[in-house]
Amino acid sequence: MPGQKSLTVLGIESSCDDTAVAVLRGRRILSNIVSSQDAIHGPYGGIVPELASRQHIQNALPVLNAALEQADITLNAIDGIAVTAGPGLVGSLLVGVSLAKSLAFAKNLPFIGINHLEGHLLAVQLEHEVDFPFLCVLVSGGHTSLYLARDWGHYQRLGATRDDAAGEAFDKGAKMLGLGYPGGRIIDELAKAGRRDAIRFPRARIKKARYDFSYSGLKTALRQFLASPERERHTPADIAASYQEAVVDTVVDTTIRAAHDLNIRRVVVSGGVSANSRLRQYMTEAGEQNDFRAFFPPLKLCTDNAAMIAFAGAWRLAAGQRSGLDLNASAVLPLENA
Ligand code: KG4
Ligand code: ZN
Repeated sequence: MPGQKSLTVLGIESSCDDTAVAVLRGRRILSNIVSSQDAIHGPYGGIVPELASRQHIQNALPVLNAALEQADITLNAIDGIAVTAGPGLVGSLLVGVSLAKSLAFAKNLPFIGINHLEGHLLAVQLEHEVDFPFLCVLVSGGHTSLYLARDWGHYQRLGATRDDAAGEAFDKGAKMLGLGYPGGRIIDELAKAGRRDAIRFPRARIKKARYDFSYSGLKTALRQFLASPERERHTPADIAASYQEAVVDTVVDTTIRAAHDLNIRRVVVSGGVSANSRLRQYMTEAGEQNDFRAFFPPLKLCTDNAAMIAFAGAWRLAAGQRSGLDLNASAVLPLENA
């Protein structure tokens, strides 16, 4: 990592529906608090942006205090602040950005706005040092993209989803199956008791864009399947396992293609969907057969958290990068040349 000093960094993340604050010293996580809003959005079957931002306002200070308490330090021991500045829900992002700016101003601390995707892309580094260059498959509720990470801060997007993200495919599939929200983890659990070859759902492949993804056809196929008499011949576990297999298969297949084309030996899988047990198993096996090693963050660093934001901030702060107090939140923020 560039910069020799082990900075103590406060990370703040509020891009979607989790309010998260963490304290990091070097690569050591002193605290990592995530306050989930699943119970609030669950009844709606998806995130309600207005409710999310209001809840962030209520959660921000208690979560900050809990993170400082767990790390057993005060703000006086913090060297710098890193906050997610985008992409995400702008009302949610603004809560974190405003908190970071207020703390930076009050304590005269350097602070930096971080791209949420860089956080996911580097989260694995808190557990294993993965040398550059590596491929990063970023699979979350909002994104499904493939990046070539050449070095710190040098990330090239190779492809992305044309429609739904992989996490969205899980969440919408779970909703159609009447399983609850967020659906990824529920499908993962249910699928363990099912046969993944029970039903053949379609795997989309975009001919002219080798590294792009598409999940809307799969979603439609599930809807049609559930409305057909065929449904009665299968258990919910079989349907979940077969549907999950179609999502996972496209992610792994596209990764193998990119690893071959670019001759890359290291693949990092990150984002909420990287918690999926079948994806972890399948990508690991694909790596053994295709000459690359697959790395995954520990489960608590797969989904949204502030430790990964603090880590992305740490190398940037150590390299002398700073944001001004005029930093704004951006709903859309490309990772390339972040
Ligand atoms: O990274 P994340 O916490 O938030 C975003 O930035 O989107 O990802 C949340 C997504 C949700 O769609 C959720 O269903 C999915 O990650 N997810 C999973 C699993 N755990 C979380 N999907 C499949 N299997 C899982 N075990
Ligand atoms: Zn995320």
